[in-house]
Amino acid sequence: MSHSHSLQRIRIWDLPTRSFHIFLALCVAGLVASGEIGLMQLHFWLGYVVFALVLFRLVWGFVGGHWSRFIHFVPTPAKLFAHIQALRAKQAPLSIGHNPLGALSVLGLLGLLLLQVFSGMMSDDEISNTGPWSALVPANWVELATEYHSDIGKVLLILLIILHVGTVLYYKRIKHEDLITPMITGDKVFTTEVHASRDTRTSRLFALGVFAGCAYLVYRLVNIA
Ligand code: HEM
Ligand code: HEM
Repeated sequence: MSHSHSLQRIRIWDLPTRSFHIFLALCVAGLVASGEIGLMQLHFWLGYVVFALVLFRLVWGFVGGHWSRFIHFVPTPAKLFAHIQALRAKQAPLSIGHNPLGALSVLGLLGLLLLQVFSGMMSDDEISNTGPWSALVPANWVELATEYHSDIGKVLLILLIILHVGTVLYYKRIKHEDLITPMITGDKVFTTEVHASRDTRTSRLFALGVFAGCAYLVYRLVNIA
């Protein structure tokens, strides 16, 4: 059996990253629905879960599996530019983890989610629902935060999610590159030697610990008053 050409399944997305993604997608869908319907008790709870999830992902970007780390996917401007040129010439190489443009949308999603959470914490619908920080900050912050949360951030986030899912579907249907299966099973198939992401029982337990720490931090931040 020739080793150099045999197909190898390599772990790219560790279980913590994949779990983060599926919980995030479900919670964000629930947040948009509960916000619009006005199920605010549920809305707040889901918001706190997303807060903890995003904090977890930020930490996991430093201590997680190889391809989940920011240094292994956040591109320098030069790399980003080279990737765009290669795309134009239809010569973009297959990426192992996130491609350089995908990496930008990952950062954009995490950033918008964080803004949505922070603004929600300071929002006040002037009927009966007030975020836990709205009593702690000046009234004009509450006004701005509420306006951002329910008019601007919400729309930006939904648009970026549509772009995100649209791009993933474009890769599958038009470029015949399946990004979805690896986000579920964790593995991609390569013909060459590729660095694998660590995804052991120990690293998964460690991730649980990190998440517990993030959840505790959120608990403290919610009950800050
Ligand atoms: C509210 C909905 C969603 C949000 C907020 C969201 C957010 C994200 C984020 C933050 C990442 C980066 C993953 C990481 O490195 O930690 C990601 C990656 C990914 N998401 Fe989603 N996602 C959503 C829905 C979906 C759906 C419905 C699909 C399936 C069609 C999907 C497919 C993917 C795939 C395939 C990747 C990996 C892309 C790559 O290979 O570079 N996402 N998503
Ligand atoms: C990613 C996380 C979140 C998303 C996507 C989200 C989304 C939404 C949406 C779609 C609405 C309805 C806006 C409208 O009336 O048109 C809303 C309202 C609201 N959300 Fe969130 N939310 C998030 C997190 C939070 C958090 C963490 C809190 C506070 C703990 C919060 C507090 C509120 C409040 C108080 C309102 C009512 C504001 C108003 O309509 O005047 N949200 N949110």
